[in-house]
Amino acid sequence: MRCIYYKPLMTKKLFLKTLGCAMNVRDSEHMIAELNRIERYDLTQDESEADLIIINTCSVREKPVNKLFSEIGQFVKHKKKSAKIGVCGCTASHLGEEIFKRAPEVSFVLGARNVSKITQAVNSEKFLDININYDESEYVFGEFRQNPYKAYINISIGCDKKCAFCIVPHTRGEEISIPHEIILSEAKKVAKNGAREIFLLGQNVNNYGRRLSNGKRGELNFSQLLTQISEIDEIERIRFTSPHPLHMDDEFLKVFASNPKICKSMHMPLQSGSTNILKTMRRGYTKEWFLERAQKLRDMSPDAAISTDIIVGFPGESDEDFEDTMSVMEKVRFEQIFSFKYSARPLTTAAQMTNTIDDKTASMRLKKLQDRHAGLLDEMTPNYKDRVFEVYFEELRENKMVAGRTSQNFTVCVDGSEELLGKIKNVKITRPQRLILYGQVV
Ligand code: SAH
Ligand code: F3S
Repeated sequence: MRCIYYKPLMTKKLFLKTLGCAMNVRDSEHMIAELNRIERYDLTQDESEADLIIINTCSVREKPVNKLFSEIGQFVKHKKKSAKIGVCGCTASHLGEEIFKRAPEVSFVLGARNVSKITQAVNSEKFLDININYDESEYVFGEFRQNPYKAYINISIGCDKKCAFCIVPHTRGEEISIPHEIILSEAKKVAKNGAREIFLLGQNVNNYGRRLSNGKRGELNFSQLLTQISEIDEIERIRFTSPHPLHMDDEFLKVFASNPKICKSMHMPLQSGSTNILKTMRRGYTKEWFLERAQKLRDMSPDAAISTDIIVGFPGESDEDFEDTMSVMEKVRFEQIFSFKYSARPLTTAAQMTNTIDDKTASMRLKKLQDRHAGLLDEMTPNYKDRVFEVYFEELRENKMVAGRTSQNFTVCVDGSEELLGKIKNVKITRPQRLILYGQVV
């Protein structure tokens, strides 16, 4: 844990469990920082010694939401008698008061858009705030980072897109860009503290600058923001998630391809390869648009890896629609996919659709997609043998191995020790596997 504080005063202990996306990871870091700075909590990995237990939840799919209440039950069983339990994040935003009803032991429920009120929540007998219009885009949080080598920085909050399947706009509210001055000053600060890699976060990063908190357009768009961050000397790598395929214009692809500090790893969330389904999903692009952008990216940046998100079994998805998704995967040859069975979510328009796909069909489609992707990886992976990649080492693994990432976001493991952490080295791949490339520093 890397945190600047006065240790002897740390008397209270915080156990925090984070589910879901990178934005939740960053929200948790913000809560830890605030609780440390103002309330002097220190982290513990042991829930039974904690004075405060927080679950930072995700509600993108149904499964983790269902698990929440059994998880709270487990915490109640094992916690210290005096310990408080709080529920934060997207499930807090959408269930709100219902959480108190189903789990009376919970003493506060704090929405994903209300993170800066964490100390107020902790100090109240019972506290509920799930306001999705609350604007904390300019709030300056305390400093805490789980991983000192890779610094997450929020560049926007919320999402304006309203994809038919997605609950996020209903839990994180409308999209507001954080002023570029705040982002640049944070980037400079983390660079000074030793982070070589910056990871920019937002639901729609390449729509950055569309609207600031004051309603006005920002001075910089995403491409310009990337360029300015790359001018900070100490920063060697820049990553971001998630861009939206719709906003992948030529300017953005050009900056991505030509700026050597921008990691050559692009997330292009496809969701579906069928233009019809994309239309009902309200994604704003067609199959052809996606394929054209992906091809342009491959042409401009031949070394880049493309990852994607795919949903199968969206209402109305015919066999033909699904085959369209398979064919896009075949054409783009994504280096990584995150694939999900559609899960109906409250508050979304898709939840009203009656032409649902039965679970068996959705499961079969998911398996077919994942099996074929595994096959594609089996075709691609052997090509990495003997290739030399620049690897930024960030994590110790078992058996005296150290793991790092290539610019393409491939995980590479080598024999080594702590000395490698925080360093960028050339690694020759000796044993490429589907998920990990094993190699030697050269
Ligand atoms: N803007 C974010 C989206 C967050 S949700 C991003 O692009 O990463 C992350 C992913 O979860 C989505 O891309 C989608 O593939 C998946 N997802 C969202 N809602 C879903 C639902 N109702 N059922 C299944 N998967 C869903
Ligand atoms: Fe969700 Fe679509 Fe926004 S997937 S987060 S509504 S871009």
